[in-house]
Amino acid sequence: MNVIICSDYEQMSLEACRIVAGVMRKDKPVIGFATGSSPIGLYKKLIGEYENKKLDFSCLTTFNLDEYVGLDKNHIQSYNNFMMTNLFNHVNIDKSKVHIPSGTGDLEAFCRLYENEIEKSGGIDLQILGIGRNGHIGFNEPGVPFGSKTHIVNLDADTIEANSRFFDSIEEVPTKAVTMGIRTIMNSKSIVLIANGAQKAKAIYNTIYGPVTTECPSSVLQLHPDLTLILDDQAASMLPQKK
Ligand code: GLP
Repeated sequence: MNVIICSDYEQMSLEACRIVAGVMRKDKPVIGFATGSSPIGLYKKLIGEYENKKLDFSCLTTFNLDEYVGLDKNHIQSYNNFMMTNLFNHVNIDKSKVHIPSGTGDLEAFCRLYENEIEKSGGIDLQILGIGRNGHIGFNEPGVPFGSKTHIVNLDADTIEANSRFFDSIEEVPTKAVTMGIRTIMNSKSIVLIANGAQKAKAIYNTIYGPVTTECPSSVLQLHPDLTLILDDQAASMLPQKK
């Protein structure tokens, strides 16, 4: 495991961009993207690299981690809309190569299809992750089995509360989501997890030093052979090397 501690969010975004750009230069790259505030800086940097003609998105295939159940893909808070607004609408990506879980329709059938699509692509070269305060990755909440593939989950009260900042009221936050499973994420060839802010410090400590337990889903990442954590000072504040 590689841990990169950065002075600030800007530096974190630069580090993450450097790694993503490296993967994008390989033949037929496949990248898994995440939503949330943590990767927004990375997406801005990637757009900048595209505008400066240093990155070409035309051959890239993407798979997003998750989507809320019940939100139409055009809903302003859908993760589909998030990815279009924050990245895909600004670069020369072929939208037929963009895969974002669907939160409507036959969800069980969709989950099976999504796993098949990932397999058909040759597998994910690099998966970007954020992390929830409770250690969730994607929307895999505490208790989700490590063997899980793309599936439907009930969101924890803590997650609903944390994500209510994006909705007019907490009642509007969906209570379920479709998410890549832990196994799906662990099958990626490499993983970069981005975390900033003191509210992530405990989850980051548990990710690195905690027991590997479904009670902290991100702790499973200790078992991944190619994991990089990109942290700001605050998210790293509970790590022994920072004390
Ligand atoms: C959501 C997403 C996660 C993301 C998490 C953290 O719950 N499903 O993939 O990692 O939020 O979000 P933020 O980066 O805004 O803290």
